[in-house]
Amino acid sequence: MRSAVEMSHLFLREALHPQAICVDATLGHGKDAQFFLEQGCRQVIAFEIQEDVLTDTVQRIADPRLEAYCQGHETMDAILSQKADAMIFNFGYCPQVESCVQTSWPTSLEAVQKGLQLLRKKGRMALVFYPHEQGQIEAERIEAFLRTLDPHDYWVIAFHPLNQSTSPYLVGVEKRKETS
Ligand SMILES: C[S@@+](CC[C@H](N)C(=O)[O-])C[C@H]1O[C@@H](n2cnc3c(N)ncnc32)[C@H](O)[C@@H]1O
Repeated sequence: MRSAVEMSHLFLREALHPQAICVDATLGHGKDAQFFLEQGCRQVIAFEIQEDVLTDTVQRIADPRLEAYCQGHETMDAILSQKADAMIFNFGYCPQVESCVQTSWPTSLEAVQKGLQLLRKKGRMALVFYPHEQGQIEAERIEAFLRTLDPHDYWVIAFHPLNQSTSPYLVGVEKRKETS
C-alpha cells in the first residue's frame, strides 16, 4: 500500500508539465520539492518558517529552479506573480529536527484559501494531514472549509484508511473553473 505522501505525488503528477509552476507550502526536508523537480517543471516556489531547515534543504537540493522563502505559506499571495499548476501542503512537523515547530490551523487555513485562488484551472492541490493531537484540529478545520466549496468550481476527494483514525491521509483538490 502506498503512503499518503506517495499518493499525493501520484495525484499531483497529472497537473505537471515542463512549464509547470509548483508550490511546496511546507518545504521541510524537501521531499515534495524534489518530487516536483524530478518530474520536470519550470519552477518550485517553497515556503518554510525554520531558517536552518530551509538553508539545509536548499543547499542539498541545489537546483536553480527551487526558489525558497523563509516566511509563512499564508503570505504566498505576496510572492506568486502567476497562477500555479500544482501545490502541496504536507502539514505537521519536520521529522529529525529537534525543534517542534509545526503547522497551525489558522495560518494553514488562510494559506489553503489563498492557494486555491492562486491555482490555475485544472491545477491541483494536495493536502497531507496527520490527524493526531494538534493535527486533528487542523484537519477538521480545513476539511470543514473544503466541504463548503462549490462542486462546480472545485473537485475535492479524500483518500484515507477507514479502519485507522490517526493515520496520515490525503485530500486532493482540482480546480474546475478559472477564478480572477
Ligand atoms: C511535515 S513538514 C514538511 C515535510 C516536507 N514537505 C518534506 O518533504 O520533507 C512541515 C513543515 O512545515 C513548516 N511550517 C510550519 N508552519 C509553516 C508556515 N506557516 N509556513 C511554511 N512552513 C511552515 C515546519 O517548519 C515543517 O518543516
